[in-house]
Amino acid sequence: MKAQRVLHLTHPSLVPPDSLEGLSEKRRHAIKTDWDVVTELRARGHEVVSVGVEDELRPIRSAVRSFKPHVVFNLVEGFDGLPQLDAHVVSYLELLGVPYTGCNPRGLVLARGKALSKKLLHYHRIRTPAFHTFPKGRQVKRPKDMQLPVIVKSLVEESSIGISQASVVDNEERLIERVGFIHDSIDTDAIAEEFIDGRELYVALLGNKRVTVMPPWELTFENLADGAPAIATERVKHDPAFQRRAGIFLQPARNLPDGMLAKLQRTSRRIYRILGLDGYARIDYRLSHDGKLYFLEANPNPEIARSEEFASAADEAGLPYGEMLERLISLALRRPPN
Ligand SMILES: Nc1ncnc2c1ncn2[C@@H]1O[C@H](COP(=O)(O)OP(=O)(O)O)[C@@H](O)[C@H]1O
Ligand SMILES: [Mg+2]
Repeated sequence: MKAQRVLHLTHPSLVPPDSLEGLSEKRRHAIKTDWDVVTELRARGHEVVSVGVEDELRPIRSAVRSFKPHVVFNLVEGFDGLPQLDAHVVSYLELLGVPYTGCNPRGLVLARGKALSKKLLHYHRIRTPAFHTFPKGRQVKRPKDMQLPVIVKSLVEESSIGISQASVVDNEERLIERVGFIHDSIDTDAIAEEFIDGRELYVALLGNKRVTVMPPWELTFENLADGAPAIATERVKHDPAFQRRAGIFLQPARNLPDGMLAKLQRTSRRIYRILGLDGYARIDYRLSHDGKLYFLEANPNPEIARSEEFASAADEAGLPYGEMLERLISLALRRPPN
């Protein structure tokens, strides 16, 4: 691809340093996506400028005016500490008329709410866990029709924030306690979902109108403590030492039941279209022990660090890291105008 001027947007704390030398493992883990993207694009000859976005849009406008980017590489995941505001940053890019990588604002909004996306997909007969939402400030009671166990989560947070083993509850007292924890400590509405015991599968997709589906990936757990639920808690996702101890691996999904590969691909394409996603996304599923596939969530603009599932699946599909990043840029440049 011809060299591009790329404006990289991210949280100010994630603007990559000049080198990784002397950084702790935790810090490297935190900045790895931004580091991988920026260093790879530079190595491929693109001119990259990073700008941190926290609670102000002005730095974006200044950089667009002075740097005149061909494209924005959007790695912003929220605004003013609120993940659900990421869509508005993208809306601002649309108002500025600058092409950007990743998903359009409407797709971000439809996919973000853990209840909204499930309602839309349920209408289209895609299987989702039963759920109930608990708005902040309202009395918490177990609804009569709720079966236990459930998993209690924030309605809008990402990255397993607020998810630990204690999130899976099998009695009313624990349910109320955990909903209270989400309300008070995470400071958002809560959702309790039917807990789907089974395998955890991810499908990565990339494209606008024409969509490429990558081979399914799986999060596996080899050394969990007895009785611990096999779920992607905060530690499972973000603590490399814990990952080694508990034998957590991301790998191609092997030995799927007959027909499941085709079903995953077909369902993922439908979900991408129904939620109006574009750019790139990862759809997360649970496959129950009796072979039923449940939609968990759609992640537009998912994690694209070199070592994570999206990039690994793309690589497996014949799209090595640098080419994958350039594909995201060409999708941005070719997105039809609104
Ligand atoms: N209904 C469910 N049944 C079983 N496990 C679940 C369910 N919902 C969430 N989980 C587990 O919790 C993890 C995080 O939940 P998710 O809804 O994807 O939130 P986040 O946006 O924080 O990633 C999932 O990857 C999965 O391991
Ligand atoms: Mg998730």
